[in-house]
Amino acid sequence: MDNIKVGVIGVGRGQGFARGTGPLVGMELVALCDTWEKKLRQVGEELDVTTYTDYDKFLEHDMDAVILANYFHEHAPFAVKALKAGKHVMSETSACLTLAQGVELIETVEATGKTYMFAENYPYMLFNQEMRRLYQEGAIGEFTYGEGEYVHPGERDWSLRLKDRLHHWRNWIPATYYCTHAMAPIMFITDTRPVSVNGFIMTYPDTADINRDRVTFRDRASMIAVRMDNGAVAKLLQGGLRGHSVWVRIHGEKGQMENLRHGDQNMVRLLKEQFDEERTEPVERIYRPNFPVHHEKAMQAGHGGGDFFMVYHFAEAIRNDTQPYLDVYRGVAMSIVGVQAYRSALDSANNYEIPDFRDKSARDKYRDDDWSPDPETKGDSDPWPSLEGRFEPSPEALQYAQKIWDQRREDEA
Ligand SMILES: NC(=O)c1ccc[n+]([C@@H]2O[C@H](COP(=O)([O-])OP(=O)(O)OC[C@H]3O[C@@H](n4cnc5c(N)ncnc54)[C@H](O)[C@@H]3O)[C@@H](O)[C@H]2O)c1
Repeated sequence: MDNIKVGVIGVGRGQGFARGTGPLVGMELVALCDTWEKKLRQVGEELDVTTYTDYDKFLEHDMDAVILANYFHEHAPFAVKALKAGKHVMSETSACLTLAQGVELIETVEATGKTYMFAENYPYMLFNQEMRRLYQEGAIGEFTYGEGEYVHPGERDWSLRLKDRLHHWRNWIPATYYCTHAMAPIMFITDTRPVSVNGFIMTYPDTADINRDRVTFRDRASMIAVRMDNGAVAKLLQGGLRGHSVWVRIHGEKGQMENLRHGDQNMVRLLKEQFDEERTEPVERIYRPNFPVHHEKAMQAGHGGGDFFMVYHFAEAIRNDTQPYLDVYRGVAMSIVGVQAYRSALDSANNYEIPDFRDKSARDKYRDDDWSPDPETKGDSDPWPSLEGRFEPSPEALQYAQKIWDQRREDEA
């Protein structure tokens, strides 16, 4: 097949695909879409591609595939439109904001037969690919317990510059919603799926100096306990706690593995104690793996090579007229872990199911489930984005934030 012609929506994260990653796997950028006109024009001129501010017009462009890097909470409706327009879709996280959207997205992929890939790059990081290889060859036996962490704190101005207004999604998605960076590697390494969750949320402490600067309606972080379909339990930790961490730990019946927390975090530690078995291997191995294929190309891409393998598998799936490993079922399942965990956190951490939407009979119960904390569309029966209910930023905090948002637009346009 010739180059795959691709259009990207979103000139933030989307620029990474537009600039470097796509060409490495035979994808040719032909169109860009964003409502941020000045930035769009600047990037479009630099990359010499057609630009659109209107998504419907963008979809009329002659192209095979669309990469969605628009707002976190709007991917499902944009994916549905693109699929119906005959395009293959790769969608950034999250796949859907509600369970109803998850059902609709899955049924649209089934009806159109187009390739859908959930753009989770974390499973494709070097250490996660190595742990999948080890797991698949039986190095640690059956999966019993795992932990995934995506903890990403930062200074106030950095955090404000990731947004452009008060109702930007980064200010209001509940603390459980950005869970796929922690969930996806565990599913990928062990080939298991989530079946139920218990959610716990860490709120901001009630101290004057934090709340004086705060413009977010959401809580600080969350921990989600997930039961997997083989009976294993996984613990997911995500949010803005002090102490950066991108970390995965997997226990099995015969051993345990994880990436290093310190130093070179691409290094893998494999522990095989072999208590009652004949000793055949060292108790502990710590080493830096290589990618199984395309090591050099992958190392040029972002997120420790994860960004390369994501588009690589998307391109391969299109060329082979198939669905990738991170298909719509896995994408929706790991996204609704965050939604169901928020329901759980609001309900004394009671257990909530993760319906298996591969089973058509599981869909009807959730087909109209529009439960959503989006402050711009929230109805009376919808939740506030914080466990503590309604939060109003102080006028001083808002004024400061607005100054940063105005500055960002000036700097980047
Ligand atoms: N996988 C990763 O490592 C990773 C890293 C960063 C961001 N992301 C994801 O990428 C997505 C984008 O995040 P971001 O950091 O670029 O910030 P962002 O969400 O602020 O940027 C989205 C861009 O889409 C544009 N946009 C929104 N609605 C539009 C519409 N209707 N028509 C045209 N353009 C529209 C916005 O103007 C903006 O430029 C999010 O879903 C985020 O979760 C993933």
